[in-house]
Amino acid sequence: MSRTLPSDRSRAAGQPAVPVRTAPYQGLRPFAERDAAYFFGRGTERTILVANLMAARLTLVYGESGVGKSSILRAGVVHHLREHEGDAGLAGESPRLLVVYVKRWAGDPVARLLESVGDEIARALGVSPAEIGTPSSGLAEALARWSTRWNLDLLVILDQFEEYFLYHADEDEDHPEPFATEFTRAVNRADLPVSFLVAIREDALAKLDRFKGRIPKLFENYVRIRHLRASQAEAAIVEPLARFSELSPGEEPWTAEPELVRQVLKGVQVGKVVLSAVGRGVAAEPADGQETDPPIETPYLQMVLTRLWAEEVRRGSRRLRLRTLDELHGPEEIVRTHLFESMDALPPDQQEVAAGVFHHLVTPGGAKIGHTAKDLADYTELPEERVRSLLRALSAPGAPILRTVGARPGQDGEPRYEIFHDVLAPAILGWRADWEARRAAETAAHHKLEERTRRWQRRRVWAGVIVAVVLAATAGEAVRSDRGERAAVAGQAAAERQADQAEATASSANATARVSSRMAYTARADTFCAKGNASVEALGPRPSRVDHPQSFGRWLSNALPIGKRTSLLWHLLPVPRGQPSLGAVVHEYDRGLAAYESAAQALVDGQIEVARLRLLRADLLGERYVTLAGRNGFRDCALALTPPP
Ligand SMILES: Nc1ncnc2c1ncn2[C@@H]1O[C@H](COP(=O)(O)OP(=O)(O)OP(=O)(O)O)[C@@H](O)[C@H]1O
Ligand SMILES: [Mg+2]
Repeated sequence: MSRTLPSDRSRAAGQPAVPVRTAPYQGLRPFAERDAAYFFGRGTERTILVANLMAARLTLVYGESGVGKSSILRAGVVHHLREHEGDAGLAGESPRLLVVYVKRWAGDPVARLLESVGDEIARALGVSPAEIGTPSSGLAEALARWSTRWNLDLLVILDQFEEYFLYHADEDEDHPEPFATEFTRAVNRADLPVSFLVAIREDALAKLDRFKGRIPKLFENYVRIRHLRASQAEAAIVEPLARFSELSPGEEPWTAEPELVRQVLKGVQVGKVVLSAVGRGVAAEPADGQETDPPIETPYLQMVLTRLWAEEVRRGSRRLRLRTLDELHGPEEIVRTHLFESMDALPPDQQEVAAGVFHHLVTPGGAKIGHTAKDLADYTELPEERVRSLLRALSAPGAPILRTVGARPGQDGEPRYEIFHDVLAPAILGWRADWEARRAAETAAHHKLEERTRRWQRRRVWAGVIVAVVLAATAGEAVRSDRGERAAVAGQAAAERQADQAEATASSANATARVSSRMAYTARADTFCAKGNASVEALGPRPSRVDHPQSFGRWLSNALPIGKRTSLLWHLLPVPRGQPSLGAVVHEYDRGLAAYESAAQALVDGQIEVARLRLLRADLLGERYVTLAGRNGFRDCALALTPPP
């Protein structure tokens, strides 16, 4: 099928106005049609895809998750085709070319596809969708009728096709899936002026077997989208700055230091940043021949650029600088901390909801799946309002962790939530595993505290009994007869009253002594900590964890026993009565030590990626401990777990 690109005077009616951008970079969102001015590096792929779509009945586009398939299709192909609709100048005679883009597969895909085509026709003609109507016939018939009636050639792009299989997994010979049947008929119908482009993630390609016997030339015409190369990604860093500067012509244009560009590209190469659910990261070596122009993970590129740009804006600069990147600890750290920071900023009760909700939004294999707030509340058995408030927080602009997607047909407009991009999935699983570990440690600490309280209470009861017995004996009461028993009871009551009185006196004395006992406790603990700190100093300078991770691991392994000794001595100090917050400080110290211990183990074992994640967590706990200790009046102890600057 060959095509021309006829003019379309009415396109302007539905054309979205060029949006005002607030940032040059796209972040984790795929580029859409309106972002085309900021989309770079994919000129060749766009040309190839447009040519295929125009020339072939069915084109298969595939590529790894996150390589930029949707972005090329929308900001490249769709934008290009729509922009050129006005060029050919054969309106009225040759058919009008109409591009339809579909990416949602939940619910009824046939109805959704027809609705999208109807909307697009309405938009192109400048009429309301109601005027186009909803066809009652099947997909092929409806497309045939519409294309004849409005003199159209249709280019239909079906993106995220892997989700079709996710939502419509079941099919057997007796119950063929309706979309599969309808789509097959439309593709195979030779007289239909419609081309289809199916875009699918590489790992789901095998699922297309469902169509294999039905669409004979299914795998005949395909295009594989590969990762953006460093040379292309360079344009994706520099060019959007120039575009963005055009929005404020009077001001100094935005620029990027060449060395910064080099370092960013180095840090976001494929295989460089690997995040794993259980921290089992690997730093893969680039494949042969890729060193000169290595492949880039564009979602990571976007995360780093977005963070860097925001930081430069905050500092009042108009230049992306290497120094700023270094101060943010480099590209890998930006990606890694992106999610942890966002999650740790949430209040603890929201973190608890998030841990429950994530379990249902990310499969153990790291794939995303969408659910409504109501479904998530049902699955987690948490109050719906708590779940909704979390979902709102995580999908707010500037916090791209979740996003809302369209409702399933018949669900009354209820949106579904899914994780923003698959690249976040491993980090989300990692955060969740970490949250659970923290939760377990807190529960254990809490039980320990409860056990101590119970022991202390038991001691008090025994002390009361002894006091009562001593008092009864000194009153000379014999316990042999009823009379004697009654007297004994009366005597015990008197003894209890006396004991209560004694306790009241003691507690008021305690109240006055509380301040001094608190000071005595912190001072004694500080003595142990001061000794510990001095012993750690004596180990010599702390090696850099970034440049010499294994030496740092060895240093940490030597420092930890000193910390443990300090903890042991500290635990021997009785916590002053009525001051449980003081007792909590040493428990927080233990948690920090335990976190550094597991990081040290990973470092010594040479599991650098695992160790990085654990050190990050340990630093967070360390900071929390230092704040808590300082707030409770400790001096030397507040220096005991100070994370490195
Ligand atoms: N040419 C590009 N330059 C810079 N960033 C890009 C480019 N193409 C895509 N990205 C970014 O890469 C990320 C992934 O893009 P996109 O969603 O288009 O990939 P995809 O292959 O469709 O992913 P999926 O497999 O999840 O559908 C997004 O953050 C997007 O902004
Ligand atoms: Mg996509």
